[in-house]
Amino acid sequence: MTVTAPQETTVPSTDLSALMREGSRAEHTSAENSTFMTDLLDGRSSVERYTVFLRQLAVVYAALESVGDALATDPVGSAVVDAALLRSAAIEADMVFLSGDDWREIPVGPAATAYAARVTETGDDPVRFLAHHYTRYLGDLSGGQAIGRILQREYAMAPEGVTFYDFPLVPKPKLFKDGYRARLDALPLDDVAKQRVVDEVKVAFALNEALFAEIGAAPSLVE
Ligand code: HEM
Repeated sequence: MTVTAPQETTVPSTDLSALMREGSRAEHTSAENSTFMTDLLDGRSSVERYTVFLRQLAVVYAALESVGDALATDPVGSAVVDAALLRSAAIEADMVFLSGDDWREIPVGPAATAYAARVTETGDDPVRFLAHHYTRYLGDLSGGQAIGRILQREYAMAPEGVTFYDFPLVPKPKLFKDGYRARLDALPLDDVAKQRVVDEVKVAFALNEALFAEIGAAPSLVE
């Protein structure tokens, strides 16, 4: 009798967090390699351009955090909404430091306006909100942690200008991300709902890329 070893097959995970990560791998690589990101991280951009970028993120996070508030007790939204992640106060502090009290006068362009509008729309569709929450906050807790250090190194930015990347209430990002993914995976979502999340993650990445393209291309910045 010949005993054959069981066939090794890799069953693709149906865990939501894995689907989100795998489903946006190409988009992540593309965002990482965008001209704006590579210029910023290689010291070819400027504090001025970064400040205009952060002003755009202010409206995106205002939308994320306003919808987050509204969904804090929603059975789906509550899986991800967490006060430890809130970024609006840090963005405001950084903007005051970088640009002064009238920082809101820096114009918000079409890309950030469209991004914030898309996030706001998810207020009545918590499944899609998950995608936007994940794309920004898990990014901030991942590559974002290096970005804060690089900005200080490349542009001699003071720590007071990059508090956006500090999460004092998340001392161990890796542990936090594990818990976050576990909560996503515990949600009772069917395959159709999971696919809607993955599709929206791709949209979220595209909205980030459009923002990068707009800021990277802007010829005139703060007047
Ligand atoms: C040059 C820029 C970037 C670098 C160097 C970078 C780097 C990384 C790294 C190393 C991870 C894996 C962390 C881990 O294993 O826990 C990660 C994860 C992630 N990044 Fe980025 N990233 C960049 C840009 C972005 C952008 C622009 C976004 C979206 C706006 C983003 C969203 C994410 C998300 C959502 C994850 C979590 C993936 C998961 O585990 O499910 N990243 N990033």
